[in-house]
This record gives sequence, structure tokens and C-alpha cells, in this order.
Amino acid sequence: MEVSQQPQTVLVFRLDVEDLVADLHNIPKFFFFQEPIRTPTATPPAEIHVPLDSAALWDRLQAITSANDAQQSTIWSSLRSGFCLLKDRLYYLNALAALSASLLQKATQNTLPNLPEQAKTEFELKAREYIENDQIVLCPEGVGGTYFIQDPDGEKIGIFKPVDEEPGAANNPKKLVDTPLLPAGGGAIREVAAFALDHGFAGVPPTYLVEDVPTRFGPKTGSIQQFIPNDGESSSVGYSSFITEDVHRIGILDIRLFNMDRNGENILISRQGDQHHLIPIDHSYILPPHLNGAYYEWMYWPQAKRPFSQETLDFLNKIDPLADAELLRGLGIPESNIKTMVVTTVLLQHCASIGKTLFEIASMMCRDLSQAPSRLENLVETAFPNSMEELDVASVYAFFRSLVAKEIK
Ligand SMILES: Nc1ncnc2c1ncn2[C@@H]1O[C@H](COP(=O)(O)OP(=O)(O)OP(=O)(O)O)[C@@H](O)[C@H]1O
Ligand SMILES: [Mg+2]
Repeated sequence: MEVSQQPQTVLVFRLDVEDLVADLHNIPKFFFFQEPIRTPTATPPAEIHVPLDSAALWDRLQAITSANDAQQSTIWSSLRSGFCLLKDRLYYLNALAALSASLLQKATQNTLPNLPEQAKTEFELKAREYIENDQIVLCPEGVGGTYFIQDPDGEKIGIFKPVDEEPGAANNPKKLVDTPLLPAGGGAIREVAAFALDHGFAGVPPTYLVEDVPTRFGPKTGSIQQFIPNDGESSSVGYSSFITEDVHRIGILDIRLFNMDRNGENILISRQGDQHHLIPIDHSYILPPHLNGAYYEWMYWPQAKRPFSQETLDFLNKIDPLADAELLRGLGIPESNIKTMVVTTVLLQHCASIGKTLFEIASMMCRDLSQAPSRLENLVETAFPNSMEELDVASVYAFFRSLVAKEIK
């Protein structure tokens, strides 16, 4: 990948994907960004998708390679907003969401150079500094040791969730929960996984891991998430004001993640005229190693019964469960939890392709009041009578896809 800073405002960079791969998947090979790259949002800048060719482009690329070290380093740091370095792999993330993230991710794996370890987003650097300076305040709501990170003016800029303070963990300050939905200690990485897997589609706020950051209680490891200014939580207003597209996007995320905790407090709202835009937060209880216990507040909202838009269907088509599995593996999520994502995504993609609604798909994933196994559980049982445990993720994917296509018409 080569990078350049154009005079004043524009960054251009080239992805070193094979021409054939790029053409096959219709991946643009060149991108422009406004400088500075903004925090990734669900709505990327309109300029993001500029097809280029010819000599003008070549000139720009020449400028890129001749940028000096200092310029290069600034550019790398900026790009870190759009790319996330997980272990030693570079994954394509939020900022390029509109460009079919999972395809790009697949096409670029192993072909991009590693970013220098210190190339963190501005948010990560600031959050770490403020935590070290004890600019954190325990959030009074909720059951976890969840802190607001504040800047020197007292403005909230982030959320910090140390692993040793999760519900059920030794240092949890609230002691309200003995047996959390999933064992304590894995929540922070699941928060990061939700951001990574979202590919910017539902707008999970940028979330990263901080390790061994000094605090007044000693070094702490946990998740940091960008604070999103909001007008409250979804449970505080009527659901009729929610934008259908937002409900579908969060629903799709929750199905892929098998979210067990999507209650009305875990969706923030932001007023847009007489409607509310939705922002999904709190992904501590996702990707369990089992298929019972999904909880979806949105399931009975009327928006969930409306058909998916073409844009949403296009996104679903582009999701590659095996590329996403690789991404989760890179974060250290265990294989049995990854298989949960694979089977739910297979079900989701197939059902959406034959015209089922979010409500219908979610109904297949949840048990009813009788607590009899869900349709998903039954399908998995049929596909893998001897359990999925012994099979690798790729085999689970292949078997389950063919069974679902046969069983659900
Ligand atoms: N990214 C964010 N931007 C703005 N506010 C946030 C964000 N994340 C969390 N909050 C606020 O902090 C509160 C607690 O956050 P969160 O629900 O993630 O933590 P928790 O301790 O896991 O709570 P719970 O008891 O629901 O499990 C939220 O209800 C919300 O008001
Ligand atoms: Mg919560």
C-alpha cells in the first residue's frame, strides 16, 4: 500500500490487491479521503468513492512515495482510524464501510504492511492518557465497573470497561451480579469484536483494547469505546420514531453476534427531526459458545417486520463468515464461539435472500415461552447430530449452508 498527502486536504492510497481479485469483486483500487480522517461514522464522506485512472493518478502516487518520514508517519496515524491492527494482522474496518468491508478485508489480508505499533488513533492515545491521569468517573447506571473517560474540561470522550471489574469479576465495584450471562473476563474483547465485526454498518462506536494502563488501583486492561453524544436511550421514547434502516442494521448485527443483552438501554438515540437515529452500545454478552439465550428488544418493533432495503441486502450478500471468523480468531475468540457467528450468519443470509423479514429470522433464533429448542438449535442438531465440536469452522460453514438451503424454502 502506498500513501500520500495531497496539498491541504486529500489523502489518496492504493490497495495492493491483485487486479483480478479487485475486478472480480468490483473493489476500487484507489481511495480519497478528506484530511483529517474523521472518526469513522455510519455515513462515510461522499468523497470516499472516487474512481480514478490515468496519468493524474500516477502523479499523485509519485507524490505519495516521495513523502518524507514525518509526513508518512502522520499519514499512518490518520489511517489508523480506518484500519485496526489486531495482533499482527491489518484489518479493514469502519471508515470504509460503504465499500464492502468484508470483501476488501479478504482481498487485502497479508498484503498490507503492518502499521508501526505506536500508530494508534488519536482517541486511543487520549483515552489512555486520561485514564492514567485518573480522569475517569464510575458510571452510576448498570452493573459493571464501567467508567466515563473525561478530557481536562470534564467532557466525556470515552467509556472504559476494565476486565477485572466486569459483573462477576473480583473487583466489580457494584456486586449486583454473581452469575453473569457469560463468564467474567471476556467482555472487553467481545466489545472490540462487536466493533470489528460490524464493519461500520450498524455504527458500533469505535472500540479498542487497552492493556496494562496504570490507574490508581494498579495496571488495568479493558475496552475503551468512543463516547457518542446522544439524547438518551431507546427505552426512554416510543419506538415509532426509530428509523427502519437503523433497526434493521442493529438487528443484523445482533443476529450475527447472537447478542444476549440487546435491551432498550443498550441502544442510544440521537434526535433527527422528528425521528431518532439509533446507536448500538454494550456488547459484553455476545458470541456465546451455545445457541440459547438471544435477547432482542427490537424484535416486536414494527420496523422489524418491514422488508429489508436493497442496500441492506447488498451488505448481507457481501458478508463473508469465514473472513469474519478469521477476524475473531485474530482477537483470540475461541473456536466454539466463532461457530455461533458462522451458523447465525448462514441462517441470516439465506433467509434474507428468500425474502424473510428480520422478525421472522429473529423468531427462528429465540426460544418461545415453552423453552423448547429454537428453530436454529434444531437445524444445528440436524446438521451436526454428533455436535459441531469436532469440526473446524470451514466445515461447519459448508455443512450448515447446504442444510439450511435444503430445509428453509
Ligand atoms: N459509546 C457510548 N457513548 C455514550 N454513552 C455510552 C456509551 N457506552 C455506554 N454509554 C453510557 O454508559 C451506560 C453504561 O454503559 P454499558 O451499558 O455499556 O455498561 P454496563 O456497565 O455493561 O451496563 P449494563 O449494566 O447495562 O450491563 C449506558 O447506559 C450509556 O448511558
Ligand atoms: Mg448496558
